[in-house]
This record gives sequence, structure tokens and C-alpha cells, in this order.
Amino acid sequence: MKKNQHPRKKIDRLAPHPELYHLPMTTDEFRGMPYRPFGNTGLRVSQIGLGTWKFGYPETGDRSRANEKTALKILDKAIELGVTFWDTANRYNSSSGNSERIIGTWFAANPGERRNVELATKMYGLMDGTTPNYCRLSRVNVMEAVYASLERLRTDRIEILQFHWFDETTPAEETLMAVEDLIAQDLVRYLGLSNASLDQLAPYVAKSEHFPRARIRSVQNQFDILHGEDPARKGVFDYCAEHGLSFIPWSPLREGLLTERYLNKSKAKAGDRLVDEKILDRELTGPVLKKLEALAALAAEWSMTLSQLTLAVMRQLRGIGPLIVGCSNARQLVENAKAGKINLSQEQIQAVKKITAI
Ligand SMILES: NC(=O)c1ccc[n+]([C@@H]2O[C@H](COP(=O)([O-])OP(=O)(O)OC[C@H]3O[C@@H](n4cnc5c(N)ncnc54)[C@H](OP(=O)(O)O)[C@@H]3O)[C@@H](O)[C@H]2O)c1
Repeated sequence: MKKNQHPRKKIDRLAPHPELYHLPMTTDEFRGMPYRPFGNTGLRVSQIGLGTWKFGYPETGDRSRANEKTALKILDKAIELGVTFWDTANRYNSSSGNSERIIGTWFAANPGERRNVELATKMYGLMDGTTPNYCRLSRVNVMEAVYASLERLRTDRIEILQFHWFDETTPAEETLMAVEDLIAQDLVRYLGLSNASLDQLAPYVAKSEHFPRARIRSVQNQFDILHGEDPARKGVFDYCAEHGLSFIPWSPLREGLLTERYLNKSKAKAGDRLVDEKILDRELTGPVLKKLEALAALAAEWSMTLSQLTLAVMRQLRGIGPLIVGCSNARQLVENAKAGKINLSQEQIQAVKKITAI
């Protein structure tokens, strides 16, 4: 067995498992959470997923927010609720690898659940070393980065490898061939991009068509209902919907702005992310507050929270992929996961559209 590989056997296949008798032929949900196809692929992903950017070891100075104890509790709750699409990156936080490390710790403690998780990670930026070959999308860095992530994640494969950023300097063919090889070895199963503009995406997708295993299946870009797409990357969402790619919006709650917690600015305090990151004034302008108030009023009228309304609306957008919401505690996750089952009427969606950018 190679150094970076781990035994696949996690359940005792020789013993009968009565809890798995009489299963239906197919299903589109797990533990009550609805799943959806991952773009044009056969993979199904939980509609509410989990963003793990802020998981780490804050006591070591990595600038994470959820320490190991809290993060492991969130992961326990996620699996219990069927929130099985987990998004991380090798560089989260401060190029520490600590988000991946915590997920790896959880897998080690819960070996039977690994096969219930759709694990997505990312690579691109300088990581695990300091020469120019520890960054970008060269064959060397793609291979080495995946080996390192597998080790930290304590797993033998990654369901979705995402290029965190676009690399204009490495020929696409070199990068895509490296991913073909990783997929052929079953170390990676699907490929996605992140932070791509339309100008970058369309030619890259066309090139990836020549690499059947390494076709681009998803794009993870910034998007929320108040601001829509990042202006520099406008049009990618529609492109994804039209071309069968899964669009994964990052920071779907705008880092917590799309909750009730900032409606009364004077109550915002240390411990609230927008305060801690010193971006509350930039984010909570007068016009934004008005929109938040209007959305919160709709949410209250419909007996849901603002985060639930936000996620429920996004869930119903054409071409949308898993909603990778970040959580600082298990309570937030429980609240957000409920949005997986909220079906808004067209009238309700129209009412939200009148206030927002979607
Ligand atoms: N590809 C990329 O370049 C990129 C960039 C950014 C993010 N991402 C991915 O997207 C994921 C999600 O983005 P994000 O973490 O930036 O932001 P987010 O999901 O928009 O917001 C997460 C924050 O919202 C607050 N929150 C969540 N649920 C809440 C609830 N029910 N009630 C009240 N507050 C709630 C928490 O704030 P407090 O901490 O204050 O409690 C939490 O930290 C990341 O974890 C990462 O996986 C990717």
C-alpha cells in the first residue's frame, strides 16, 4: 500500500446487516435531506452542504473560528442531518491545512461514515512548501497537492477536486492530463473550478472535453441573493445552468449578513464574524439594511428564519449546486439544514426577487 493510501474496508461485509435489508431500488434523499444531481454527472449531492473554511486550531494562530471540538460536533450533526456535501480547501486557514486536518480526524473517528460524504477540496495556492513548484496548476503541484490533501483528510479519494483559482500560466492540457491520471487511479472522482470568469471558463470547459475523465463538472464562485454574482465573474451562473455544470455559490449567507443577527447594528459585537473581520460597515450599508429588513419581514410572515429563506430561494434556482453554508456551531447548522425541505411557491420567490439581485 502506498504511503498516501488508506484501507477502503470500513464496514464488515462478511456479516449480515439487517438495518440495510429491504432497501428501495433508488433514493434521492438521505436522513431526510434531499439530494440533487451534481451537474450532468450521476453523482448526487446533498442540497444543503457544509462549508468548512473556518474550521481549524485558532489557538495556533491560524485565524480559524471553529476549534477542533466545535468543528467535530458540527460534522457529527451534519452527518446526522444528511448534510453530506463537505467543502474544504488545502489552504484553509492561513495555508495551514487545518480544515482538512479536522475533517481527517472526524473520518478517522467515524470510518463507517466516510462513504456517506461527498468530499470536495481545492488546490492552487502556495501550500506545503515554499518553492514556486508548490503553487499553481502544474502537473507537479496538482499531484503533490492531492497526495498531501489525501493524507490530511485521512482518506483514499476525493469526490471533487476543485482548482481554487485559475492559472493562466500552465497549459490547460498539462493540468487536465494530471487530473485524468488522478481519476484513473481513483484518487479523485470529479473535477471542478472555482473563482473563474466567463472568459476563462468557456475555453477551459471546451479543452476539458478532450479529457473525458477530467471534464469540468462544477464552478464554485461567489454568489448571494443580495448581490448576485461577483461583477468580474458575471454570466457564469447562467453558463453553468445551460451547460449542465453545477454552480456552487460560496458565502451563500454573505458571511452571516443574511441572517437576523445584524438587523440591529448596535447589538453586533465581538464574536460576530463581520465584526471580527472588520467588514460590518462595508457590508451593512443603508440600502442593504433596508433589503435585509424587507427579507426578514417576509421570512417572519412565512414562519422561517432569514437564513432559511435565503437558502430555500437559492435551492430553487436553475443550475444551482449544493449550498455550502459555513457554521460556527451545530445550532446554526440545524437551522440551515431545515431549508433543504422548504419548498417556496413561485409567488414567494417573486416576492423575494423584487427585493434582491436574483
Ligand atoms: N472558493 C472560494 O474561494 C471560497 C471563498 C469563500 C468561501 N468558500 C466556501 O464557502 C463556504 C461558506 O462561506 P462562508 O463561510 O464564507 O460564509 P457563509 O456561509 O455565507 O456564512 C457563514 C457565517 O454565517 C453565520 N451563520 C451561519 N448560519 C447562521 C445562522 N443560522 N444564524 C446566524 N448566523 C449564521 C456564521 O457566522 P458567525 O461565525 O459570526 O457565527 C458563519 O460563520 C466556506 O466555508 C467555504 O467552504 C469558498
